[in-house]
Amino acid sequence: METLVTKNWGDYALIDSGNRLRLERFGRFLVVRPDTSALWKPMQPHHEGWQQPHAYFVGEKGHVWDFQKGIPEAGWEISWNSIRFLVKPTPFRHMGVFPEQAVHWEWLDETVRTFVKEQGRAPKVLNLFGYTGIASLVAAKAGAAVTHVDASKSTVNWAHENAKRNKLEVRWIVDDALKFMHREVRRGTKYDVILMDPPVFGRGPKGEIWRIEAFLAELAQTAGELLETEKGKLLLNFYATDVYPEAVARTVKQSLGNKISLDLTSLCLQEEKGNLLQTGYSLRSH
Ligand SMILES: C[S@@+](CC[C@H](N)C(=O)[O-])C[C@H]1O[C@@H](n2cnc3c(N)ncnc32)[C@H](O)[C@@H]1O
Repeated sequence: METLVTKNWGDYALIDSGNRLRLERFGRFLVVRPDTSALWKPMQPHHEGWQQPHAYFVGEKGHVWDFQKGIPEAGWEISWNSIRFLVKPTPFRHMGVFPEQAVHWEWLDETVRTFVKEQGRAPKVLNLFGYTGIASLVAAKAGAAVTHVDASKSTVNWAHENAKRNKLEVRWIVDDALKFMHREVRRGTKYDVILMDPPVFGRGPKGEIWRIEAFLAELAQTAGELLETEKGKLLLNFYATDVYPEAVARTVKQSLGNKISLDLTSLCLQEEKGNLLQTGYSLRSH
């Protein structure tokens, strides 16, 4: 299996990992948070970030984060490729960005720009499970007409705030991804690029249960029905579960009627000293 690697960029760095933790820099702030797969020993055990991070995820009820004086707990702005967005420590150890997605943002930026050049129109991009919307902003900035769907209203508001920072327009939808997709199929709507980054387990706005094993085939098949043509582009990012990645790939390809060629890759972040930290898997069109 090939590996897609996100390297550190100006405003973000994976400095080190180990002892089931990762040490990262977001802008100028050092953050330590859990990473269950980092079973090894840190490469830089004496790094000041391990000793005195600006934020340390404790994860206890009523005591979620330890903050050093001076860190803006309400968030601070960082950027990728001049797209600016807000990051902040959240109760579930997330920071408002999945940095490993940057290697997919590069692919998305190129995919959209090539489409505009070749087709002479704005591609329609559907970003499902879109979270704080950085992928939506990458596509919009490159010239796409973007629809962003997430079940969480507060997260879609955060994405909308990120869009305002960049004066970019996006169509925002707070809904259960599958419900929205089926409605779009009934309407006969089509998309040129579909992005999906479902959690292993999640809930829709009305408490609808999302479990990837249970809904993977339906998600893939419905995505296939929403694609404009077989030239349409797909990205499914997924996380380690009980199901092997090859099994996920086989299920998705079969549900798409084997009409679309997809590469199965592992997705990694690269540390300062060069080691890779795997964060998930991807199935992506060429
Ligand atoms: C792993 S995050 C996506 C990260 C995103 N792709 C990114 O790069 O920023 C998963 C997202 O799925 C959303 N979610 C969970 N269950 C959902 C559902 N049933 N329908 C739509 N969104 C859902 C969560 O609110 C969360 O924002």
